[in-house]
Amino acid sequence: MDKIFIFDTTLRDGEQSPGASMSIEQKVEVAKLLTAIGVDVIEAGFPISSPKQFEGVRRVAETVRRSTIAGLARTLEKDIDRCYEALAPAPKKRIHTFIATSDIHLTYKLKKSKKEVLKLAVDAVRYARSLTNEVEFSAEDATRSDREYLKEIYTAVIEAGATILNVPDTVGYTVPEEYAALIRYLKKEVPGIDKTVISVHCHNDLGLATANTLEALKAGARQAEVSVNGIGERAGNASFEEVVMSLKTRADCFNFKTRIKTEQIYHLSKTIVSYTGMSVQPNKAIVGENAFAHEAGIHQDGIIKHKMTYEIMTPQSIGRRQSTLVLGRHSGKHGLKERLKELGYVVSSKDLDKVFTKFTEIADKKKEVFNEDLIALIEEELSILPETFTLDYFSVITGNNVIPTATVRLKSGNAVIQEAATGDGPVDAVYRAIEKITDTPVKLSSYSINAVTRGKDAMGGVTITVEKDNRIFRGYGVATDVIEASVHALINAINRIYYNGG
Ligand code: KIV
Ligand code: ZN
Repeated sequence: MDKIFIFDTTLRDGEQSPGASMSIEQKVEVAKLLTAIGVDVIEAGFPISSPKQFEGVRRVAETVRRSTIAGLARTLEKDIDRCYEALAPAPKKRIHTFIATSDIHLTYKLKKSKKEVLKLAVDAVRYARSLTNEVEFSAEDATRSDREYLKEIYTAVIEAGATILNVPDTVGYTVPEEYAALIRYLKKEVPGIDKTVISVHCHNDLGLATANTLEALKAGARQAEVSVNGIGERAGNASFEEVVMSLKTRADCFNFKTRIKTEQIYHLSKTIVSYTGMSVQPNKAIVGENAFAHEAGIHQDGIIKHKMTYEIMTPQSIGRRQSTLVLGRHSGKHGLKERLKELGYVVSSKDLDKVFTKFTEIADKKKEVFNEDLIALIEEELSILPETFTLDYFSVITGNNVIPTATVRLKSGNAVIQEAATGDGPVDAVYRAIEKITDTPVKLSSYSINAVTRGKDAMGGVTITVEKDNRIFRGYGVATDVIEASVHALINAINRIYYNGG
């Protein structure tokens, strides 16, 4: 198996994307995680671009011992000097110098001839090589550059001492077949290229960054430039987790190995989300919230019977705890039964039918049915929940000019207990009275009302969650009067608290 070098640019291309900036301390923490996970090269920043960038690279270079630290530099001596200065403390360092090679960049951006650009590239590489043993040269916008010119410039920089040749798809324009053909062309045509490492750096403007990277590796590239969660300029870079897990999961196709300890991927991804504030879409491959979640009944049935029916890698292989069966309107009885089992309820098939009918009614109204919903549902449907308290009577005085005042009377066994209380509103007043009667102070964490039937006399369904001693309890009540429905919901939640030990 050939080794693929993983070059991570989360701290450079990733961090330079809108909204992704990190503090120097955060960059150092990320660098520690990157080296621990087994990244070969960490591109830590662009030192000349700002004092903070310089400091970031410098601090990473001081901290990380195992991975090579790379810094970016234009083909200018002052950039290379600053880059070298920042990298100096690193035991293994690399200067990464770049200049654009496509006609469109030469004409409109650089306003230089091909000859001028070639000289800048060669001089920069030679100078960088006088400082470090590892010099990477990138022909920016390589995929839109003239092939003959690419051949010429790569040949010249190899002679000047470049050890790694990067072929960036800067604007995410290429497609897998074309990119692979370009790599094969360079491998064949550029003298001395076999003494260097060919690197690929793909942007995701067409959503092809991972596919392009993988195809280029098959064609002979041996370094993949990636970023965690795929963050980077515009649509981002090839994603670290996608490239690494593709190589691992489809080793039969690629026959490559990396040094990455994939079990640390999820933690790394979460760290980047929390440091940058850039969340990943729920359906993002590998690290998205739904990447190991199953809702459809047929899929849940398959997963329960054998995980590999619908999972091509294990959640544990990237450091996630387990796959989840999301209970919603598409779920079936198998998924429901499994979840009830996890919650400690073993139900007969007759009871399961009963609970399932009620479950589908709830699932039609809610996006996801949570454990607390299920517990409330099963306890009610199967009459598991003892009614420690029941409502006997309540009244509330309220208005825009009076302090809302409630009187509530509850029955508990043979006892009838009455209390009065004032509150910020009528619901608050009745809730305070109920808390006094039951001697159960709770924190109301959520409250919602839904019309259960239609029309002006619609029944109102009130669902609440309350917190007691760091535990969450759900309560549900229905009545034509919303205050009464609220009263029933709290009594229901308090009965549940009693049932669970008070
Ligand atoms: O996308 C690009 O071309 C770059 C280079 C600096 C490698 O990020
Ligand atoms: Zn880039």
